[in-house]
Amino acid sequence: MPSLPWARAAAGANTYDHAAEAVLPTVYERTTAAAMKAEAINLGQGFPDGEGPQWMRAAAAEAITSDAGPTNQYPPGIGLPVLRDAVAAHQEAHYGITLDPAHQVLFTTGATEGIAASILSFAEPSSEVVAFEPWYDSYGAMVALAGAELRTVPLEAPEFRPDIAGLRAAVTERTSMILLNSPHNPTGAVFTAEEMTEIVAIARQAGAVVMSDEVYEHLTFDAAPHTPVLSVPGAEDTAVAVSSVGKSFSLTGWKVGWVTGSASLVNRVRGVKQFLSFTSAPAYQWATAQGLEDDRGFFAENQQQLQGARDMVMSGLTATGLRPFRPAAGYFILADVSAVTDKTAAEFAAELVEHAGVGAIPVSALTLPSTQQEPDNALNYLLRFAFCKDDEVLERALSRLGKWIR
Ligand SMILES: Cc1ncc(COP(=O)(O)O)c(C=O)c1O
Repeated sequence: MPSLPWARAAAGANTYDHAAEAVLPTVYERTTAAAMKAEAINLGQGFPDGEGPQWMRAAAAEAITSDAGPTNQYPPGIGLPVLRDAVAAHQEAHYGITLDPAHQVLFTTGATEGIAASILSFAEPSSEVVAFEPWYDSYGAMVALAGAELRTVPLEAPEFRPDIAGLRAAVTERTSMILLNSPHNPTGAVFTAEEMTEIVAIARQAGAVVMSDEVYEHLTFDAAPHTPVLSVPGAEDTAVAVSSVGKSFSLTGWKVGWVTGSASLVNRVRGVKQFLSFTSAPAYQWATAQGLEDDRGFFAENQQQLQGARDMVMSGLTATGLRPFRPAAGYFILADVSAVTDKTAAEFAAELVEHAGVGAIPVSALTLPSTQQEPDNALNYLLRFAFCKDDEVLERALSRLGKWIR
């Protein structure tokens, strides 16, 4: 691991170019750029083709251009009161979780800032942070920046269930944090209430803080219930939850996020958050509050549309000979490439974008360098395809994949 902070952060997320001693763009940006260059269909980065509810966009525009809503000046560092109230009301209405909006809800610039502030607040230097692997890339960057070490517990196909015994074995007295992500990117696993309860109990026993990334909370399929960490017994003084507007409302560019938890834990996260961005985007905070107060049926509509896309891409990928695993939530399907090639998913992805005209993300970009070096590790043969795209785009991508693989 290099020693300077910038290089540690980059290396922690597999974006450090050792030879050039420079930072590479994230795997999502690299895949998008490669797809654009090859004029390929980009099923790499997880952003929807749809534009999110028109009425929320109109509310944001109105807030910027009229005297309705907040001004365009600095909103409070902890977020507009109307947003904090709406986050608390949403948690109560959907999950029966009661939060004091003044002390238990902190606005962040996207979930990304909530993740960064949480990890930088609780990952002690030289401690260990445990996460399930594959993980979201910013976890690796922030754990390394904090000067802690990331230890992982693999999620295994076909179900990618969290290995509770494996987690118990990985957590030691050196563990300062456990990082959770349910519904999980990229596997689409939705952790059960029992699993969440056991994870929180393990953290409590070790005196570790849980950060639970719940950005896919409204994207579960087949009525799979989402269990927010704060609904689990024992989580009240052990866990913070992170979520955002991006996935729930197909507004990934808005970057309105929030951290929730006990007043004491949220106050500690504020210690870092208020010197990252301090604040941002009053108009988007205001419009997000309106969506959280009443989604006007968008959550159900979006779930139904995504579930249809998931089913279509599952059968399309199966027909190509790849071995896809059915996700219970989210934007992505993982497929095992070893059914059609001896190459790793990273090598196969480079060929796909160039020759088949389809961009996808090798799961190895979301794993530790030591995992990438294991030729027999199943994670090195998984490719991530985003299905949060228009049907017509998905059909074209599947047809290209089918032709090229055959
Ligand atoms: C698991 C996970 N966490 C966090 C984020 C980032 O959320 P935001 O765009 O709100 O910063 C993403 C975005 O892809 C994600 O997949």
